[in-house]
Amino acid sequence: MSAMKTCFAALLAAATACSATIDPLKHVNLFIGTVNGGNTFPGATIPHGMVKVGMDTDGDNFAGYDARPQFNVTGFSQLHQSGTGGAVPLSNFKLFPVPHCSAFEQCLTTITSRKTLRNILPDGTSDDFASPGYFSTNLSTGVRVELAATRRTGLHRYTFPSTSTMPRILLDITNDGQISAISPGLNINPKTGRMTGSSANFATSFGPGRYNAYTCVDFKGEGYEFTGPTEWGPYKINYPDKNGVDLSQHYYSYGSEHGGLLSFSQDTTSADGTTTILARVGISFVSTAQACSNAESEIGDWDFARVVSDSEDQWRDILSRVQVQTDGVDDETVTLLYSSLYRTHIVPGDYSGENTGWKSSEPYYDAFYCNWDTYRTLFPLMSLHDPENFARIVRGMIDIQKHEGWLPEAREAGNPQFIQGGSHGDPILAEFFVKYSDHASKLGVSAKDLYAALIADAEDQPGNWNLQGRQADIWKEKGYIPSDTTYPGGANTKQVSRALEYAFDDFAISQVAKVLGKTADAKKYVARAQNYRNSWNPNITVPDVSDVAGFMQPRFANGTWNYTDPRHCSVNDPLQATCFLNAIRRDGFYESSPIVYSQYVPQDTANLITMQGGNARFIERLNWIFDQNYFDSTDEPSQQIPFMYHYANAPGLSTQRSRQTISKWFNTSLTGLPGNDDSGAMGSYAFFYLAGMYPLPATRQFLLSSPYFPQISFFNPLYKSTTTIKSINFTGNPADGTGGNVFVKSVKVNGKPYKSNCYLEWDVFTAGATVELELTDDINVMCGSGKAALPPSISTGGYN
Ligand SMILES: *[C@@H]1O[C@H](CO)[C@@H](O)[C@H](O)[C@H]1NC(C)=O
Ligand SMILES: *[C@@H]1O[C@H](CO)[C@@H](O)[C@H](O)[C@H]1NC(C)=O
Ligand SMILES: *[C@@H]1O[C@H](CO)[C@@H](O)[C@H](O)[C@H]1NC(C)=O
Ligand SMILES: *[C@@H]1O[C@H](CO)[C@@H](O)[C@H](O)[C@H]1NC(C)=O
Ligand SMILES: *[C@@H]1O[C@H](CO)[C@@H](O)[C@H](O)[C@H]1NC(C)=O
Ligand SMILES: *[C@@H]1O[C@H](CO)[C@@H](O)[C@H](O)[C@H]1NC(C)=O
Ligand SMILES: *[C@@H]1O[C@H](CO)[C@@H](O)[C@H](O)[C@H]1NC(C)=O
Repeated sequence: MSAMKTCFAALLAAATACSATIDPLKHVNLFIGTVNGGNTFPGATIPHGMVKVGMDTDGDNFAGYDARPQFNVTGFSQLHQSGTGGAVPLSNFKLFPVPHCSAFEQCLTTITSRKTLRNILPDGTSDDFASPGYFSTNLSTGVRVELAATRRTGLHRYTFPSTSTMPRILLDITNDGQISAISPGLNINPKTGRMTGSSANFATSFGPGRYNAYTCVDFKGEGYEFTGPTEWGPYKINYPDKNGVDLSQHYYSYGSEHGGLLSFSQDTTSADGTTTILARVGISFVSTAQACSNAESEIGDWDFARVVSDSEDQWRDILSRVQVQTDGVDDETVTLLYSSLYRTHIVPGDYSGENTGWKSSEPYYDAFYCNWDTYRTLFPLMSLHDPENFARIVRGMIDIQKHEGWLPEAREAGNPQFIQGGSHGDPILAEFFVKYSDHASKLGVSAKDLYAALIADAEDQPGNWNLQGRQADIWKEKGYIPSDTTYPGGANTKQVSRALEYAFDDFAISQVAKVLGKTADAKKYVARAQNYRNSWNPNITVPDVSDVAGFMQPRFANGTWNYTDPRHCSVNDPLQATCFLNAIRRDGFYESSPIVYSQYVPQDTANLITMQGGNARFIERLNWIFDQNYFDSTDEPSQQIPFMYHYANAPGLSTQRSRQTISKWFNTSLTGLPGNDDSGAMGSYAFFYLAGMYPLPATRQFLLSSPYFPQISFFNPLYKSTTTIKSINFTGNPADGTGGNVFVKSVKVNGKPYKSNCYLEWDVFTAGATVELELTDDINVMCGSGKAALPPSISTGGYN
């Protein structure tokens, strides 16, 4: 343990190589999930950076990039999200290299006419490369493009081939992915080539609201000097106007694609005839001047290698906190682990200094897509290794609540976006506070403000819960969300799934109240956390399946029940209904079936088991869910289902189901995600399964299984402690997740038998400990015999 610590200290201090540790940067594959709906972002960014510079193609990845070589490149833009749906977000301010045109005025500048394929490698894949903090590609025009980023600035490097007749670069100021720009402004300084984009106003991607964004682009020859552009001018659609300096002076009554184009002198000194030009792209949501000052202060030195190595250091610092021993583990698994951990740190983004809503010295974080996705596993993973960034995000959320009235739930560029269900800022704040209350003030988090923010969600009714807060009044009155009438506070949809989520949110608040010694509040909210019972109808069965009885169901205000077929929104739904934002108002469920939601009571699984007929029936039900394909690997409400056997004292079955889930749905290929990564929600989920754990947000417990590694350790930089989980007889991972010597027979912590084989307490991670697992190939292991052997539930005495 102490050798480990020293190793980490060396790594953290100087980023020097340390023989006992893995360099995680060698094991991150950024291309996982860039094809087939994962919508992941493979470009250059720092951890939680605002700027995410990346390549845009005309494929269907919402983060801009499609790995498949038949798709054409449309530009290299500066913002982006990762793993989101809606409309294509934040693909603003695209740069594009133009190596040949017969004359300035003849250059074709619209997206359609400039589209360019990438080089294709002999194996048929695209000639693209990415690692944390760096992206590169070779275009079929012979231009090489490399990208790097600081927090608010992108640095692009364009190497034009010797065959280029004249190097030119355009800046597209209207195509944000949606061509939504209104009133874009562009000015060109003909002496320096500086192009500034002013006050363009763009649409958000997952709800109402628009935002202004500004850019400031400077150019510099690398390896040669140029004093400025040789030609310049704004363009409208395919018409560059030579010698213009202000877009607004160049009127065409048609077209919606605008930007600026510059020509540069060639590098006549380079050995191979290539010409390399750097473009430094500052971004701001405040003003053009601030976009320029962001760029000047963050990349004053124009040193591409320095920018890359700085961001690599930041990534290495965070990702190295998890270390694994890899004897007997294939590279694919190591890469899956670190790539998943990497995607935990893309969003939310640190937009501090870029908030136009109010003045504050608190950190400002934006890009929440959405808390509904991330509260379950992403923030609990931050608890394990990154409390400082977690604290800053929490401070930013509290500051938003202070100024807007409610915690952010979904947010883009200062605009609240559509809420998917409950108010899940609550379990995120609670996750932080339940684990870090002792250090909250040291980390700048005010316990008083945090609690006030939670109470606002729980008690105050917003004008429209679709954007903020929750439908608090009817929830308080009924303890469920009735499905028959429209109540104030927003559209009356998703009544059942929302009620279950409100119950969990209230549980999270009760946990904070308990830490704060607010006994009466703790009691009140723990009672509200049991309102899930009000949506449980024990008499419902699935058509043609009589032995699985009892489901969460929609209920009218007068207490009688409506009926939603439990198969609704599942792969077996005879109506093939979807339950997305546009779902009909009466069905009651969001993005998952009533069958899945009927398992969603993480705060009180013990009572859920009672409602579902006891351990044996509960296990049969879980098996039935898997066997009939009701488990939905693509959506968060299913995430905990593979681990639920723990509560029925059958943890071996959880180990097997979670491993089968990984082997069936997660891998390192381009299509290696079952669906949208949801801002790292799926990445952090896969990480936990590989680490042999599953978190219970807003509690001090982690469910325990066996890691995919003989040893995995977590370094906590706040406690400066390392906790190592070791499998004393690790013999490898079964290929398809079935069987193997992977079932946890007994657990020791620091050499002493532990109270449970099924979960670990948070203090194991704060103090720094060695957890030893004895493994067996017998799936019929149990949690232990003591009274604390089963993981906690409200109805069996609650949480400590
Ligand atoms: C990409 O560009 C090439 C060459 O211009 C063109 O033939 C092809 O159809 C384009 N592909 C798409 C998907 O637009
Ligand atoms: C692009 O071409 C350069 C050589 O010009 C090569 O070093 C690089 O590996 C190629 N691929 C990428 C993705 O940069
Ligand atoms: C379920 O059926 C039983 C027996 O018919 C009845 O007593 C009970 O009220 C029903 N429960 C609900 C919630 O409808
Ligand atoms: C309860 O409300 C529903 C929906 O408004 C209505 O159809 C039903 O008749 C009511 N039942 C009683 C007993 O009032
Ligand atoms: C009851 O549920 C069905 C199916 O979702 C829906 O069509 C109907 O409108 C609901 N009835 C009422 C009164 O809300
Ligand atoms: C990787 O996972 C995806 C999505 O779950 C699946 O479609 C694909 O077949 C898997 N690929 C490999 C090589 O296992
Ligand atoms: C695991 O290792 C322990 C200690 O080396 C040994 O006693 C035990 O039999 C092993 N169990 C299995 C299932 O291999």
